[in-house]
Amino acid sequence: MLLSHLLHLQGIDSVVLELRSREDVETTVRAGVLEDGTATLLKETGVGERMEKEGAVHHGIELRFGGGGRRIDMTGLTGGRTITVYGQHEVVKDLYRTRLEAGGQIIFEAAAVSLHNLDISKPKIRFRRGAELDLDARAVRFQGGTEEEEITCDFVAGCDGFFGVSRLSIPEDIRREYTRTYPFGWFGILVEGPPSSEELIYALHERGFSLVSTRSPEIQRLYFQCDPNDKTENWPDDRIWEELRTRLATRDGWTLQEGNIFQKDIVGMRSFVTEPMQHGRLFLAGDAAHIVPPTGAKGMNLAVADVRVLSRALTEFYSTGQTILLDAYSETCLRRVWNAQRFSWWMTSMLHRFHDGDDYQYRLQKAELDYVTSSRAAATSLAENYVGLPLHETTGATSAG
Ligand code: DHB
Repeated sequence: MLLSHLLHLQGIDSVVLELRSREDVETTVRAGVLEDGTATLLKETGVGERMEKEGAVHHGIELRFGGGGRRIDMTGLTGGRTITVYGQHEVVKDLYRTRLEAGGQIIFEAAAVSLHNLDISKPKIRFRRGAELDLDARAVRFQGGTEEEEITCDFVAGCDGFFGVSRLSIPEDIRREYTRTYPFGWFGILVEGPPSSEELIYALHERGFSLVSTRSPEIQRLYFQCDPNDKTENWPDDRIWEELRTRLATRDGWTLQEGNIFQKDIVGMRSFVTEPMQHGRLFLAGDAAHIVPPTGAKGMNLAVADVRVLSRALTEFYSTGQTILLDAYSETCLRRVWNAQRFSWWMTSMLHRFHDGDDYQYRLQKAELDYVTSSRAAATSLAENYVGLPLHETTGATSAG
């Protein structure tokens, strides 16, 4: 949606195929932390008005371990940069409204079945309506009775996530995939009630990770590390609160604000990258090309960075006929992608219990937390990655190749 918006601002037309229904997308709560550059881009391109009113600007985070909390002063350590807590589905709502008001074409509940002619100048997308994601089967399904339809275009932006056809349309002999699966998931809850803390709290406890986040002054978002195969039914509210109170307890008697839990979900954790991110006239962006574990909230921010690079490259093509930026797309994006992979893997490794009983590992993690919260150099490294490296530092050609 953001790519479609950015292209529209340059006078370039697009058609968006959205797998889910508008209502489904607008009501599914996902991550909620926007990097400094993401929030700035939304503001600069005219879709940041509601975010500026309703989003919360944060200047620091707390890392909690060993019964105490220590603050990372992100704004102070990064020369004034911040993060904005504003739900991903709210960003998408704003984009839907803006695109539809501008006459943009979005076909909901539709998905590509196959991509053709990617090597030549007029690729084709064959798609069907009546699509839905079957998470158990890990595949897109179509209701019976829908015909295949076809779109002929200049370029295909493969923004169709891990289960979409775009990634698989890059021939296997040139595609390389890199994966790491973690032995835990996140149990997420949404709670009605006031915040427990003004800033996000990332906590390591011997029983595992937990995270105190927020969505608004009235709605709180909390997570705790769990078995990825666990079921939400195994967690009545009392058990959840008991677990969170234990993991978040401090020696100074901090209290967790409890309230009505109105949503529970479990997500698995995975790191994944596919290379290259382009093939002929196909350009992958977001989860179609890379997935990060949620710790550090880089998923949506990386997708935003990808489409910013792609929109500039397409703008260059349509205004000058040159393909310098298009040719460099994959290399440009992958530099930032691998940096975010490293950061998300590192945050995940520092803050989760990997194997019960591996006390050596746990002591190392606490030593790392101690270091990161007491050395200005280490804290600066965390802070600059958390608020998001400036785009110009992670684009541009790399001499490392
Ligand atoms: C949230 C998610 C994250 O992955 C994170 O690191 C911080 C906050 C959230 O959903 O609020």
